Amino acid sequence: MSTRTWRLAAFAAVWVGALIVLASCERASRIVGKKETKQAMDIDVTTFGKTSEGQEVKLYALRNTRGATAKIMTYGAIVVSLEMPDAKGQMDDIVLGYDNLEGYLKVTPYFGAIVGRYGNRIGKGRFTLDGVTYTLVTNNNENHLHGGLKGFDKVVWDDKPVWKADGVGVELSYLSKDGEEGYPGNLKATVTYLLTNKNELRIDYVATTDKATPVNLTHHGYFNLTGGERDILGHVLMLNADKFTPVDAGLIPTGDLQPVAGTPMDFTKPTAIGERIEADFEQLKAGGGYDHNWVLHRSGKGLSLAAKVVEPTTGRVMEVWTSEPGVQFYAGNFLDGTITGKEGKVYQHRWGFCLETQHYPDSPNKPAFPSTILRPGEKYETTTVYRFSAK
Ligand code: BGC
Repeated sequence: MSTRTWRLAAFAAVWVGALIVLASCERASRIVGKKETKQAMDIDVTTFGKTSEGQEVKLYALRNTRGATAKIMTYGAIVVSLEMPDAKGQMDDIVLGYDNLEGYLKVTPYFGAIVGRYGNRIGKGRFTLDGVTYTLVTNNNENHLHGGLKGFDKVVWDDKPVWKADGVGVELSYLSKDGEEGYPGNLKATVTYLLTNKNELRIDYVATTDKATPVNLTHHGYFNLTGGERDILGHVLMLNADKFTPVDAGLIPTGDLQPVAGTPMDFTKPTAIGERIEADFEQLKAGGGYDHNWVLHRSGKGLSLAAKVVEPTTGRVMEVWTSEPGVQFYAGNFLDGTITGKEGKVYQHRWGFCLETQHYPDSPNKPAFPSTILRPGEKYETTTVYRFSAK
């Protein structure tokens, strides 16, 4: 080859090399770009199974732009799974439940459900309203718990997908007939779950009635921010409350509001759930641990911070914001290893915790508590947001 040809070849080689480098850079940036590109929000609706009466149950799989997912079924308005990232970006399912519908139909301590018409207990299953005494189904010794034998957690809800600029969801509605489980009035309830692009699970509750009735709807998710790897005693909890409603042996509020200061009920400063749960404190005996309603500090009418939970090993953080005046913090004391849940995991003692935003238990029998009575012409409207992050 002549010197000129060599020069031309070298020149061409430099260019080809430069082009290869450029191309690979571009590819790399495309890969990086792809990682950074937000995913599209998605709603996928499938059949999850049938109830024993042959009713079809649908499963809504929601995905937000960050890849977080929530699966919600029309039976019980139950959140079947909720996948949120840890500090390293790893997605894990952070709620307890079953892999299939059969599990929920057989036995469930209200895993992931909406409970109603009245969340938590009504003493002796009885209350008097406008001079009439109503008798409810009793399903918790002599008391009425979470709506009775067939509460809102055990019925199939009507469904409608929800697309919003900031998230995807499902609107679920149920007509609870006059006399159901002993309650007065036809109650139309609508619960809308929205998985937002800020990694929040937002729940809006609306209800109307044609006769005065007590209403207290809540979400009974059992959270385990480790992804169900171990019990919840290491989770660090803050409750924005300096009083709670003490209970009797049947977990019915006495009617008092008791200061938490100086007791194991004080979560005003973040404290591990397990730190004082076995303390020698009379109020911890009835429920075998934390199973009480805390009286929330509220700032105005909208959403106020009720609770914040930090899980140190994964860095996951959950905040609970609500328009409700109370929150039932239940530490999963009645889980005892007899339930095998998702992926064959055995749910041992205190494997999940609930933060059920609500009006106080037994309010229909406690005139001093904020009222839970909904009357014709009024609209029951509450909102709770579970907000997830990691650090
Ligand atoms: C109650 C507990 C009950 C649990 C599951 C909670 O809301 O406060 O006492 O065991 O639900 O039924």
